Amino acid sequence: MHKDPNPAAAPSPGVSGAAAGALDMDAFWMPFTASRQFRTAPRLLAKAKDMHYWTPDGRQVLDAVAGLWCVNAGHSRPKIVRAIAEQAEEMDFAPPFNMAHPKSFELATKLVALAPEGLDKVFYTNSGSEAVDTALKMAIAYHRARGEGQRTRLIGRERGYHGVNFGGISVGGIAGNRKSFGTMVGGVDHLRHTHDLKKNAFSRGLPEHGAELADDLERIVALHDASTIAAVIVEPVAGSTGVLLPPKGYLERLRAICDKHGILLIFDEVITGFGRLGTPFAADYFKVTPDLMTVAKGITNGCVPMGAVFAKRAIHDVFMQGPEHVVEFPHGYTYSAHPLACAAALGTLETYADDGLLTRGAKMAVPFEHAVHSLAESPHVIDTRNIGLVGAIELESIAGAPGKRAFDIFRACFERGVLIRTTGDIIALSPPLIVEESHIDQAISTIADVLKTAA
Ligand SMILES: Cc1ncc(COP(=O)(O)O)c(C=O)c1O
Repeated sequence: MHKDPNPAAAPSPGVSGAAAGALDMDAFWMPFTASRQFRTAPRLLAKAKDMHYWTPDGRQVLDAVAGLWCVNAGHSRPKIVRAIAEQAEEMDFAPPFNMAHPKSFELATKLVALAPEGLDKVFYTNSGSEAVDTALKMAIAYHRARGEGQRTRLIGRERGYHGVNFGGISVGGIAGNRKSFGTMVGGVDHLRHTHDLKKNAFSRGLPEHGAELADDLERIVALHDASTIAAVIVEPVAGSTGVLLPPKGYLERLRAICDKHGILLIFDEVITGFGRLGTPFAADYFKVTPDLMTVAKGITNGCVPMGAVFAKRAIHDVFMQGPEHVVEFPHGYTYSAHPLACAAALGTLETYADDGLLTRGAKMAVPFEHAVHSLAESPHVIDTRNIGLVGAIELESIAGAPGKRAFDIFRACFERGVLIRTTGDIIALSPPLIVEESHIDQAISTIADVLKTAA
């Protein structure tokens, strides 16, 4: 579908950037990086096109993870690149408070047309983390505006990942955050996670067992009383903590319990949004519509930072009261609706539409599922699982060194020209939605080879 500009592994004349040896790497404090290890063997990327990266010395690397779950249309797509360049030329910045620019409205109209029915309003942020904290604030302020100011409690889920800001790490369920960053936002509780390998290992698609785990919300309601709870936030499919799939019927049950108790349901679709499961959003896949939905990543194909919160019209409308000159929702960022981000998002939506990418994952999910599960018998593998164009291979941890086995495999795969992602001892795959079967075969056979010799 998309030709590689430099299919050979030979050095590419178009690749720019210093080789690792020439770089002064002292000043940059890298995010989420094993920095001391990185400096001993830096992994640098200098160029990207469609399904591939190239290193500064011209080595081609297959991107089996869409950058970081975000480059859904593949890299450096012409319509997106052009839209950003033209926008930078025309207008670099417009203040977003009590001011606006036309593309922000144009984009919102298009996003709402794409979103699950009823999510009629869009609030812009610059990242998934900001979208999450925005949605949590929206939920609390919504209840206050309608006279239930005591509904401030937020419910997340164990092993949930909702970005790195204080709201997000508080509703998130990652133990390491609690260890590193101390006191979380108060008034938060957590549902149990749904990952149960004893019952569901090697499931193809959604696991059979565990819908009843949604009833954990009833336990929390009984403990705190529904009248104190503002919202529940979950990833429809938890991505960053290792691709944890909702058991069949789980999300429907969660929706019903939220409705019963007047609790808002927030879907964090930062990963699942924009075609990852073979439908535009996970809400479409599961036929469960949340009250608020957070997105980022694929909204601009990863080209310019942007996030957003979709809200039901009824939630938005509750804010529309009081004197007209007063700000109704005192929240926003200097770069909300940034012109470059809006232009990139418009180019992205056009590219998705041109290539039918928001549903292409449904077709490619079939060979992808087959390929992911072909690793079931490989050494160290204790589970393979998949949904849409997301796959995971879970490995047995080395005693006393959790995460080391997968990290070594990540490094070995990169050496062999395939970029994968690991979290703990779980390998996660999420290729761009333009992926072809030959790319899937290359990624899976590389992982299989590496597993054969892995410690
Ligand atoms: C579900 C989910 N929410 C929020 C975030 C945070 O997004 P960002 O890194 O853009 O802040 C992520 C990032 O991976 C995510 O997967």
